[in-house]
Amino acid sequence: MGARAGGRGLELRLGSINLLLLIFFITSLFFNVYFFFFFFSYSSIFSLWPEPRWSQSAAEEAEAVAAISCSGHGRAFVDGIMINGRPSCECNTCYHGSDCSIPSLDCSADADSGNPLFLEPYWYRHAKGSAVVVAGWHRMGYDATGENFISVELEQHIRKLHRIVGNAVVDDRFIIFGAGSTQLLYALVHALSPHNSSSPASVVASIPYYPVYKMQVDLFNSKLAEWRGVTSSWVNESISSSSSSSSDGSMNNFIEFVTSPNNPDGLLKQSILGGSSVIYDYAYYWPHFTAIPAPSDHNVMIFSSSKLSGHASSRFGWALIKDEQVYKKAIYYMKLNTMGVSRDTQLRMLKIIKVILAEHGRKGDIFSFGYQTMRERWTKLNKVVSKSKRFSLQTIPSQYCNYFKTIRDPSPAYAWLKCERDEDQECDVVLKNAGIICREGSLFEADDRYVRLSLVKTQDDFDQLVQKMDALVSDHSSISSI
Ligand SMILES: Cc1ncc(COP(=O)(O)O)c(C=O)c1O
Repeated sequence: MGARAGGRGLELRLGSINLLLLIFFITSLFFNVYFFFFFFSYSSIFSLWPEPRWSQSAAEEAEAVAAISCSGHGRAFVDGIMINGRPSCECNTCYHGSDCSIPSLDCSADADSGNPLFLEPYWYRHAKGSAVVVAGWHRMGYDATGENFISVELEQHIRKLHRIVGNAVVDDRFIIFGAGSTQLLYALVHALSPHNSSSPASVVASIPYYPVYKMQVDLFNSKLAEWRGVTSSWVNESISSSSSSSSDGSMNNFIEFVTSPNNPDGLLKQSILGGSSVIYDYAYYWPHFTAIPAPSDHNVMIFSSSKLSGHASSRFGWALIKDEQVYKKAIYYMKLNTMGVSRDTQLRMLKIIKVILAEHGRKGDIFSFGYQTMRERWTKLNKVVSKSKRFSLQTIPSQYCNYFKTIRDPSPAYAWLKCERDEDQECDVVLKNAGIICREGSLFEADDRYVRLSLVKTQDDFDQLVQKMDALVSDHSSISSI
């Protein structure tokens, strides 16, 4: 009897302990669920979220615009022209209609500009990682995190990018940002011009050269620098002045532009005057377009996001500068010119470079994608052009690339096409008559037997170019075989 009563007492005690445990368990579960929703949930079922979710409507708007179909021949943007309450499709060349699905008849292939849209498919694939959310209050002031209006994070990521790609020495270099490399070209001419000289610095470049160098120097018409034409015409002077004492107006007063690989012919170039004031324009010194034989180690080297990531619209470039005095003069120029580069642009470029770095070494990294695309285009165009002797293309040697760790075939940004027939003195006219818009050689101060064909535009642009070129070449082959 006593034992039975003792047993019931034990059962009662165990029962109340179980009840306590159950209450404890339920309470703990409740608090866990409560805090989970408080911190992580996007739902406002319990009205616990303290902040309005301000990025949601912007994200929804961006997603809705990205979902607009333009038939693969165009794209819609958030800031596009509104038709029927939504942004309209912006169609590729030779396509029209509300969804860009209608091919335009009698349309010329446009191989003129260096618009780097060949990288657009890469960023479609990386839309998620490269998206940036910017609230109205984001970094409204003039300031940035670093001195001279630059983002410290962006600067560090750019240095890291150069180390990974191996295309430029970044240690002991100052860095300056510009609104595209376009702004930096003249900033560096200004910074390298001797400010205490009685005569202006002579600015030169080698044929064929990117015409903006001359156009800027002529436009700014400064007392500090003037355009003096083609580098090769000054080589003898360079040799004689190096053996005589220098004076104002001597070779010490030259600023030489070297574009490597060159726009338009895609060849790697070096300074031919060998002076100290050389501006290396490395807009295309990325593995998409050229082998990277070694990290470049020059006093002034300019790079551009336009041809690295394809973001020409962001207007972002940078220069690596060895000499502190040159750097200070360039900074002063930038301060008075634009007070640095838009902080919004710097934010976007930071994100873009972060993606490039994160993808580095993976199967789909931007340089493999860029190289494969450009290589394929170059091979296709070569095949077509080589069907006839009427035209020829520049020869670029295959070369060991330190980035890909292998010998790599050419993949230039532009074709430098020559009309070989005596009667085709104006090659651009020959192409224009065949429905191809291109850039004539004289724009680069070369012979008009040459034209530049851009290979960096959209796939549609390239396909149309190859189609028209094929027709032109086939036409000629059939005529010459009669
Ligand atoms: C050789 C060269 N340098 C500089 C630029 C300017 O580039 P951005 O101002 O877009 O950086 C270009 C553009 O095509 C170029 O071809």
